[in-house]
Amino acid sequence: MNLPDLKEAKKRTDKEVLEKKVEYNFPKIFLNKKYFLRTYGCQMNVHDSEEIRKYLEILGFTETVVLEESDLVVLNTCAIRENAHDKVFGYLGRCKHLKREKPNLLIAIGGCMSQEESVVEEIKNKHPYVDIVFGTHNISELPKLLLEKKEKQNIEVYSIEGDVYEGIKYSRDSKITAWVNIMYGCDKFCTYCIVPYTRGKERSRKLESIIAEVEELKQNGYKEVTLLGQNVNAYGSDLHKGYDFKDLLEKVALTGIERVRFVTSHPWNFTSEMIDVIAKYDNIMPYIHLPLQSGSDGILKLMGRRYTKKEYISLFRSIKEKIPNVSITTDIIVGFPNETEEDFLETLNVVDICKFDSAFTFIYSPRVGTPASLIKDNVTMEEKEERLQRLNKLVNAYSLEANQRLVGNVVPVLILGENEKDKTCVYGYTDTMKLVNIEGGKDLIGNIVPIKIKEAKSFSLDGEIVKEGVPI
Ligand code: 5AD
Ligand code: SF4
Repeated sequence: MNLPDLKEAKKRTDKEVLEKKVEYNFPKIFLNKKYFLRTYGCQMNVHDSEEIRKYLEILGFTETVVLEESDLVVLNTCAIRENAHDKVFGYLGRCKHLKREKPNLLIAIGGCMSQEESVVEEIKNKHPYVDIVFGTHNISELPKLLLEKKEKQNIEVYSIEGDVYEGIKYSRDSKITAWVNIMYGCDKFCTYCIVPYTRGKERSRKLESIIAEVEELKQNGYKEVTLLGQNVNAYGSDLHKGYDFKDLLEKVALTGIERVRFVTSHPWNFTSEMIDVIAKYDNIMPYIHLPLQSGSDGILKLMGRRYTKKEYISLFRSIKEKIPNVSITTDIIVGFPNETEEDFLETLNVVDICKFDSAFTFIYSPRVGTPASLIKDNVTMEEKEERLQRLNKLVNAYSLEANQRLVGNVVPVLILGENEKDKTCVYGYTDTMKLVNIEGGKDLIGNIVPIKIKEAKSFSLDGEIVKEGVPI
């Protein structure tokens, strides 16, 4: 048993990052068994689940989307805010109930919550029916943990800075768009954030390995890749090889894959050369997620964000000036400890200036072990909720405005699938990452199609197919 340790997880040393190869020679002993996989949280977790799925399939499992049918439940968890925890523990209640009826049911918990001491203590003490706990650093050990499953709870979580794994196989959700990890972990240590503790230090994959993966995806017919990292703009700095994110972006664009995206950018590492590369290549999509978090210099300082309101706006403007038609989205936290009404008005002011295409907004949630959790929180929950509502109202109005500006325009949309609710419609995303519903058949799926936008809502668009400029 290896338990998580937040103090260890926080350490950063000069220890060399090891490149490890993932092995796949394990027996298919779970034939005729079914697994149920539930993923919480960000794109990183969604992509990790594609790795988990591959291991389970190699072991012989087949997937079910019905919890009650499963022989193995895997919960890939998120720790970013308290409500993510609550959701997982709520779901665990259902699994516990099911295990009473099916005593051979295996329950495994992975992801960011597994990396937290307090969570694993709670699982040990209050949830003995959980069979396996594995962390973000040892996803590739899941087969071993399943094969050697003993009578006792098996907890294997490492609090280390982390290695870089190569040769990972994925069972991908889509045959059209693919996630590609370019780096792992984060060294920014924003004071509210648990990620540097749960995901380890910032470590980049080698440029050649990333390009090889993109080339292979392209050969297999993928139309779009999204380069993934907590902080992609810092790519390469740990490798000391003389290349950085702009060089990687350029090389990925030159593979000729039709669409290149990337998330997430930290404003601090965003250089003007990077903006130039995004502007230069037609296949790098004009869409940037640029978390603001707060518009108040005082709060930004307390958050450890390393930029001021003025610097953020100036970066925002230079992106808008250089990249035609770019859409910019953001993340904002309200109710950080000590946030006054004046601080909050500074945030609203940035929203008024930037008019984001959309924004993810959150109430600050203290995370055990982070510096911000030690600051006395003098903002009441009523104030936090009221600020969130005011912020959402403003943000949604600008989202709608941005969408309305597209009405009548013809935009390229990569069609991804059938609309679940209305089978006569398909859906896809514009180059600027806006969701569009279109009347049309399944034959469109996988193609980039010119679409005329007919109607705008706050969170999506309705469009129709055009042929030589004429709607059909
Ligand atoms: N409380 C609230 N929101 C948080 N985020 C990260 N940590 C916290 C926290 N402790 C938000 C940030 C980040 C997004 C992924 O989640 O806005 O950009
Ligand atoms: Fe968390 Fe800040 Fe790192 Fe983003 S940059 S993952 S908010 S510590």
